[in-house]
Amino acid sequence: MSAAPRRLALVTGASAGLGVDFARACAARGHDLVLTARRRERLTALAAELASPEITVQVLPADLSAPEGVATLLHGLEAHGLSPDLLINNAGYSRTDAFLVSPWAELAGELEVLVHAPLRLAHALAPAMVRRGHGRILNVASLAGLLPATAGDTLYGPAKGFLIQQSRGLHLELRGTGVHVSALCPGYTLTEFHDANGTRAAVSTAYPRAMWMSAETVVAAGLAGVEANRPVVIPGRLNRLMALVARLTPSRLALRMVAGHARRLET
Ligand SMILES: NC(=O)c1ccc[n+]([C@@H]2O[C@H](COP(=O)([O-])OP(=O)(O)OC[C@H]3O[C@@H](n4cnc5c(N)ncnc54)[C@H](OP(=O)(O)O)[C@@H]3O)[C@@H](O)[C@H]2O)c1
Repeated sequence: MSAAPRRLALVTGASAGLGVDFARACAARGHDLVLTARRRERLTALAAELASPEITVQVLPADLSAPEGVATLLHGLEAHGLSPDLLINNAGYSRTDAFLVSPWAELAGELEVLVHAPLRLAHALAPAMVRRGHGRILNVASLAGLLPATAGDTLYGPAKGFLIQQSRGLHLELRGTGVHVSALCPGYTLTEFHDANGTRAAVSTAYPRAMWMSAETVVAAGLAGVEANRPVVIPGRLNRLMALVARLTPSRLALRMVAGHARRLET
C-alpha cells in the first residue's frame, strides 16, 4: 500500500490566536507548514515547536497590509519551491475608529489584509491545486459578515461578507476539481483579536462567557468543514442561531438592534 502524499499547509496570521491553533492542528495531521505574519520571532518559536523529522516548517514573514506584502510572500514560496495544498487565509483584525476620522492608509491596509490578500493567494495557488486534483482553501471570515453593518469599524463586517460571498462563488467554480473552498464564520473567540483592537475590557464585560468559543474548537470546526466541502461553516449553536435571526430580521429592525450593541460597548 502506498503512503498518503505529504501535504503542505500555508497559514496566514500564524503568529497568534487561531493561526497558531491552525498550524498546530495541521502539524498534528502530518502536514508540512509555511507560516506567515509580521512578527518573525513568534513564527520562529512556533516553527521550532512544530518542526520534527516528519514535518518541515518554513517561516516567511510578510506584512499583508502593504500592497507588496502578498507579492513578497508568493515570491518566497516560489523561491523555496513550495506549492501549498492547503491555504488557510486567516490573518485579520478589526479597528474601532470611525470611518471619517480614519486615515485612508489605515482603511486601505485593512482591506488589503481582509480582502485583497486572501483573494490574491487563492488566485495564485489554486491553479496548482486543481492540476494536482486536490486542494483546500479555508477563508477565515466572521459571523460579522453575516450580521447587520455596525458603526465604528464600517469595513470589517462588509469585508468579511465579501469574503463569504466570494468563497461561495469559488466553491461552486471549483466543484468537481478536488479543491474544496469554505468560509469559516466564527463568533467571539478567545484569541488576541480583542487585545489587538483594544476592546478586551469592553467585550468581556458586555458579553458573557457562554458567548465565547475556544480557538481550538473553532479551528477543529473549520478544518472539518473544509474537508467536508461545506461552503460556509459557522461554529457553535449560538452563532448559528444569531446568523439565522439576522437573516430573518427586517433590516431596519436589525440596524436598531446593532445600534444597541454599539452603545453597550461604549458604556
Ligand atoms: N477572535 C475573534 O473573536 C474572531 C471572530 C471572528 C473572526 N475572527 C477572524 O479570525 C482571524 C484570526 O484572528 P484571531 O482571532 O486569531 O486574532 P489574533 O489573535 O489577533 O491574530 C491575528 C493574526 O493576524 C495577523 N495579522 C494582523 N495584521 C497583519 C498584517 N498586516 N500582515 C500579516 N498578518 C497580520 C497577526 O500577525 P502579526 O501581528 O504578527 O502580523 C496574527 O497572527 C481573523 O481573520 C479575524 O478577523 C476572529
